[in-house]
Amino acid sequence: MYSPSPAERFFEDFHQRRPGTTSAAFAHLRSDRHESSYAALAATLLPSSSPLTVLDLACGNGYLLKLLDELCPGRLHLIGVDMSQTELDVARSKLPNDVRLLKERAQALSITTASVDVVVSHLALMLMDDIERVLGEIHRVLRKEGTVVAIVGRGFLLGPVGETYSQVFREVAAQDALAHLPMGDPRMRTETGWLELFNKDFEAVTFEDIDVSWQPDFAELWQSLSETYDIDRLTPAARVQLKERLSTSISTLEQPDGTYVTGWGLRMIQARAR
Ligand SMILES: C[S@@+](CC[C@H](N)C(=O)[O-])C[C@H]1O[C@@H](n2cnc3c(N)ncnc32)[C@H](O)[C@@H]1O
Repeated sequence: MYSPSPAERFFEDFHQRRPGTTSAAFAHLRSDRHESSYAALAATLLPSSSPLTVLDLACGNGYLLKLLDELCPGRLHLIGVDMSQTELDVARSKLPNDVRLLKERAQALSITTASVDVVVSHLALMLMDDIERVLGEIHRVLRKEGTVVAIVGRGFLLGPVGETYSQVFREVAAQDALAHLPMGDPRMRTETGWLELFNKDFEAVTFEDIDVSWQPDFAELWQSLSETYDIDRLTPAARVQLKERLSTSISTLEQPDGTYVTGWGLRMIQARAR
């Protein structure tokens, strides 16, 4: 009998209270080659003109599914899976009826074996428990030589803003006695670890670092950071303290126009099912 891990219980609660935070934070951030990290994923499907069945694993509020539907009208049979009903309700309200949405865990998909051409996933795989089982499910639902394309986290905020934030967050979290919440297999933090995981059932595994730029003022920086998993877990008093200490600590990094130069370090992984 399945019982959710502490991380899964946290995700369910977080996404029920705050659906759509990922697309709100990332959909408007450009990389050097793409409009956004979602667009970088979508671009991998554009060269083909054949009809494809595409599964978005942990689709959240459906931002990527909507983008795919708009970029390839009528060509894709789209399926979205997420374990948060609240995220799926938002996705349902903006997607055409023929997009199939399933509330289930990536570790136990109900999707028919060898029925999917491409699995896409944006900022979700690295959070998941038992990634070996998830990759096993991706491999099972893919047709032979089907592909998986995933954007995963590579680090946190880029540059000096990120270094300062991490330092201040660590201090405030320690004072707040924030308990460690294990999220994801440590192998998902490095290319070598990902390669080891993918090598079991996949070939032609490639990695591309994708940095998306972000130049917020302090209000935008704080608004977005306050919707991250880590800050959400702090007590209200610790959040107030973090905001004050961050504002002081990064003030020397402020640009003349009141903004801060930073971004997010992401990684795109592509692989073909053996
Ligand atoms: C950071 S959000 C990303 C959402 C969406 N892909 C996006 O980028 O806009 C992570 C999503 O993964 C989902 N999730 C986490 N673990 C999952 C699992 N094991 N199975 C299905 N969904 C999961 C959460 O419910 C959440 O919607």
